[in-house]
Amino acid sequence: MKPPVMELRGLRHVFPDDKAALDGVDLSIQAGTFVVLAGRNGSGKTVLMRHLNGLARPTSGEVLLEGCPVLDDLQGARRRIGLVFQDADAQIVGQTVARDAAFGPENLRLPRTVIRERVKAALEATGLVGFDERRPHTLSGGEKRRLAVAGVLAMNPDILVLDEPFTGLDWPGCAALLEVLDRFHTSGKTVLVITHDLDKVLAHADRLIMMDEGRIRADGPPSDVVDHVGRWGVRRPSGPITGMSWKRERP
Ligand SMILES: Nc1ncnc2c1ncn2[C@@H]1O[C@H](COP(=O)(O)OP(=O)(O)O)[C@@H](O)[C@H]1O
Ligand SMILES: [Mg+2]
Repeated sequence: MKPPVMELRGLRHVFPDDKAALDGVDLSIQAGTFVVLAGRNGSGKTVLMRHLNGLARPTSGEVLLEGCPVLDDLQGARRRIGLVFQDADAQIVGQTVARDAAFGPENLRLPRTVIRERVKAALEATGLVGFDERRPHTLSGGEKRRLAVAGVLAMNPDILVLDEPFTGLDWPGCAALLEVLDRFHTSGKTVLVITHDLDKVLAHADRLIMMDEGRIRADGPPSDVVDHVGRWGVRRPSGPITGMSWKRERP
């Protein structure tokens, strides 16, 4: 059997103040799944995300990418796992939108024509056509987030991980982002969305993981988990799971 695309084994992260932000996380994610990870503020979600491509070092435990420790091949991990952080401003590196989206593929030293195609496709997918020459710092919050997604898509990753991606997005912005995630997922790739806005995205997920106090408290099909999310500080949206989407057409 193929190893899971991503595996966390006994992952612990203790900060110098003795706070265990991650307190023994075991998690396997199969390729091609759409996973939602939720939990109250401070439950450890963002710290977990920083371990996925080696931005943080475990106190103990490890992260494996297709069976290989991420820390043994940081470059490979950063190419294959695209992380979209909550703070879109911090992710801006280019002088223009097009330069910014090209930054990742340029670092991979891909041929110019390939880079141009990738950037074009990524700007199309994120609705940023015509923004090529704009200065990123003049974009709105939602546009900056779309640019962060474009930069990651241009790397052509196998796994997309997004931290609170709906924050500050209006309905069309959320719908457009869900469209991008759906298309990515439909092409056989893996999506991990960290959010407490279950009403916007849960209909798209095949798995819901709840974290609290640095541990996984529930993990299963959304229909098994959704009725209990209040226990871990997340609001259960009203109505059926199929209605939990901000995409324009129901999935
Ligand atoms: N740099 C840091 N130093 C000390 N504690 C931190 C640091 N970053 C995060 N923490 C703590 O780790 C816990 C998990 O944080 P985080 O993963 O950001 O939570 P969230 O689930 O809201 O994303 C919180 O208690 C937070 O205060
Ligand atoms: Mg967070």
